[in-house]
Amino acid sequence: MDIDEEPTVRSKTKVLGGDVGSSKNPAKLTQPWIEKYRPVKFEDILGNEEAISRLAVFSTHGNMPNIILAGPPGVGKTTTILALCRILLGDKFKDSVLELNASNERGIDTVRHRIKLFAQTQVSLEPGKHKIVILDEADSMTEAAQQALRRTMEIYSKTTRFALACNTSEKIIEPIQSRCAVVRFGKLTDAHVRKRITQICDLERVTYDHEGIDALIYIAQGDLRTAINNLQSTVDGFDTVTQDNVYKVCDEPHPKKVKRIIDATTTGDYETAFEELRNIWDQGYSAEDVIINIFRSVKGHETMTEVQKLNFMKEIGLSHLKINQGLQTLLQLDALLVRLCKVAKKK
Ligand SMILES: Nc1ncnc2c1ncn2[C@@H]1O[C@H](COP(=O)(O)OP(=O)(O)OP(=O)(O)O)[C@@H](O)[C@H]1O
Ligand SMILES: [Mg+2]
Repeated sequence: MDIDEEPTVRSKTKVLGGDVGSSKNPAKLTQPWIEKYRPVKFEDILGNEEAISRLAVFSTHGNMPNIILAGPPGVGKTTTILALCRILLGDKFKDSVLELNASNERGIDTVRHRIKLFAQTQVSLEPGKHKIVILDEADSMTEAAQQALRRTMEIYSKTTRFALACNTSEKIIEPIQSRCAVVRFGKLTDAHVRKRITQICDLERVTYDHEGIDALIYIAQGDLRTAINNLQSTVDGFDTVTQDNVYKVCDEPHPKKVKRIIDATTTGDYETAFEELRNIWDQGYSAEDVIINIFRSVKGHETMTEVQKLNFMKEIGLSHLKINQGLQTLLQLDALLVRLCKVAKKK
């Protein structure tokens, strides 16, 4: 059962800044860094200060309402819920938390039986404390299962609280949202991602240069899980973290090449732009990969004016829409370059 296994695995995880020497243990050497460096305390969780402080209030009062944590992937939602449960329940964590995530069967039967069984079991908690059911990745629950949850939440409200994590709160049915306090998480800032990955580099004694770290941050776009995973893959593959190594591992078009496309279009030089595009396309990147990176490149461009950027983004957005609708062809990207050249000439 999850509650029997998960906490023991987690209790072995190292608090950042803890004992690095124990990495001689072979099990630790193979442990993914995202787990090894998952914060266990609120203080170690970066960013989203407002959301975390709201939750910290619950932890001091002890009385937690039902909550929904909503936000993009890899920003610390699951980590925060686990930290909150640890504070609220202390050494009773193991017996008084039921964790169900998308890998569990979470149809209507689970909601009816497993949650009911858990809610009915007796655990001696201090007055005012509650057992907690964590429904991670709750947006992947079927609607029928969510409907079944409505009553369950009310029936067991005296003894049990629910904590749901999801990427988009719209996928949680309204009646559940109205029973919960919704706490929203945003993407992490580049500064937060930088802080964490350089900390990890230092603890793991990884050699890196600043361009390598910049590349990891650029690819992650505020998703710390992606950043840490990419860091570990780069170190596994090449030992040192440099810009080139990162792009080799992460399989993203090199931003320098993408920038050359944009630079060419801003001067109306369609031939060069298309040649660069063809280069990237021939390396096997999808239209989606290319357009996302074209967008990022324009967004962070140093010399383009604000107006120019906005005009470019409008065109890029339209092409992105078409690509998402299924037109994932070089022709679409080609047409985009033509339009960008036209826009650049107009100004
Ligand atoms: N705010 C943060 N501070 C420190 N580490 C973080 C933070 N966010 C994410 N991490 C790192 O990324 C890993 C994944 O985070 P977590 O599981 O909390 O993401 P999540 O928000 O639940 O994402 P998903 O929506 O994909 O489930 C953690 O184990 C931790 O190493
Ligand atoms: Mg999660």
